[in-house]
Amino acid sequence: MKRKWRGGAEVLSDDELTSMRKAGLVVARALAEMTQAVRPGMTTREVDAIAVDVLAREHATSNFFKYEPGYGIPPYPAVSCLSVNNEVVHGIPSDRVLLEGDLLSIDFGAIVNGYHGDAARSVGVGTLEPLVARLNTVTRESLWAGIGAARLGGTIGDISSAIERWVRRSGKYGVVRDYTGHGIGHSMHQLPDIPNYGLPKRGPRVDLGMCLAIEPMVTLGGYATETLDNQWTVVTSDGSVGAHWENTITVTRHGLWVLTELDGGEAELNRLGLPFGPLAD
Ligand code: MF3
Ligand code: CO
Repeated sequence: MKRKWRGGAEVLSDDELTSMRKAGLVVARALAEMTQAVRPGMTTREVDAIAVDVLAREHATSNFFKYEPGYGIPPYPAVSCLSVNNEVVHGIPSDRVLLEGDLLSIDFGAIVNGYHGDAARSVGVGTLEPLVARLNTVTRESLWAGIGAARLGGTIGDISSAIERWVRRSGKYGVVRDYTGHGIGHSMHQLPDIPNYGLPKRGPRVDLGMCLAIEPMVTLGGYATETLDNQWTVVTSDGSVGAHWENTITVTRHGLWVLTELDGGEAELNRLGLPFGPLAD
């Protein structure tokens, strides 16, 4: 099928959105298995191995493995990004042992029939300190605030500002500025960029057929980050703990469809009084 683009964003037909949902469901299932398996004493490599299993079982392939962002950065060596505590995103699975009280951010993506899904959850290893638990809750809520601000004829800035405002009104946190959400479709990273801060009514328009990966990254300290010598792992400059939540969504004529949630977002959207608008599920 001929691919359609508008202002740098891919525009998908209803049939193609149904294919995006298939990829999103694989991502949702893998994230559910990984989060449920996490416990003290496990290595991050063992968590990644669960994702490898899910991909095989679902006949899906990885969009993370061997991903090359360019600029001489080496190909990504795993199928998930596992970032612990001060690591915000793009942590590489390793022999690192997870400890009680760690905050683990699990970022995972999959390709099904050429369509990409991408999502992330942060989860406590055992019990979290109250301040870290609160950071995680605020970050998850800011993702849903961003999702809830997506509407046909609205703008990317509406989403960005809703995320930032949610975090700001929840307390003193850092909103990471060096990384953004993104359009997604037949490839993982497309335009538009979706910053986690900004002003309403600014930026590109949200249109029918666009799929958006919305992904707030929030810290207990400042917004500044740096990359480790492995050229991937992104840590907070001040050593504070960071959380990361992400979903791939689309806006249909009927409302919101969260492609990377097991229930399409129905329960949470209902709770928030937002329109749930799947095409067919
Ligand atoms: N999921 C990340 C994102 O949202 C991408 C991971 S980088 C990769 O941009 F190399 F692992 F793919
Ligand atoms: Co993403």
